[in-house]
Amino acid sequence: MGVKVTWYSHACVLIEVDGTRLLVDPFLTGNPLAPVTADQVAADFVFVSHGHGDHVGDTVKIAQRTGATVVSNFEIYNWLAAQGLTKLHPQHIGGGFDYPWGRAKLTIAHHGSALPDGSYGGNPCGFLFHAAGKKIYHACDTGLFYDMKLIGEEGIDLAILPIGDNFTMGPDDALRAVKLIEPALVLPIHYNTFDLIKQDAIAWKARVERETPAHVMPLKPGESLTL
Ligand code: NI
Ligand code: MN
Repeated sequence: MGVKVTWYSHACVLIEVDGTRLLVDPFLTGNPLAPVTADQVAADFVFVSHGHGDHVGDTVKIAQRTGATVVSNFEIYNWLAAQGLTKLHPQHIGGGFDYPWGRAKLTIAHHGSALPDGSYGGNPCGFLFHAAGKKIYHACDTGLFYDMKLIGEEGIDLAILPIGDNFTMGPDDALRAVKLIEPALVLPIHYNTFDLIKQDAIAWKARVERETPAHVMPLKPGESLTL
């Protein structure tokens, strides 16, 4: 039992719940930090937070090989269907759905969502997972927003937060996010993939743990934590 979370670098995480594998934002091809390839990675469900190439990534290829069900907003659902995928589940912001392994709800995110070919990708989102008694909030790409407080009211065991700056929250705003969400544990993501988003996660961990009761667990690409 328990929930195992593996960081594949950037925003890509694998969440394993009793043998079911949930893969979020699988940007592996072209990602200099990726510890697995799109040909190797396992998935029963793929979650896509928004249309940018570093999040849609290898979704189509992985879904075709594994037969995974892809979950995204309605606009990206339509785009994925046009790419030939058939096992798709559309949701949208504020909406939750009970899957066999647990619940997933789409949250707001402040960002863009154009797809790689320029198609309209709707609004970007984050994900709130509730599985095996644990709540995991994956903020995906976003700036800081005060409604993170509402997400925190659900009681978050693990918050997966971008700290890279430039395209998303940086270290200062991600620290403010921790104060709004009040999670037990934090996994920093979306940093060091490229020079533009270089950050010192160890220094950020020290700051967060000095100023909040949360624990921060930076992982190396391919490493896991268990809830
Ligand atoms: Ni993005
Ligand atoms: Mn991104």
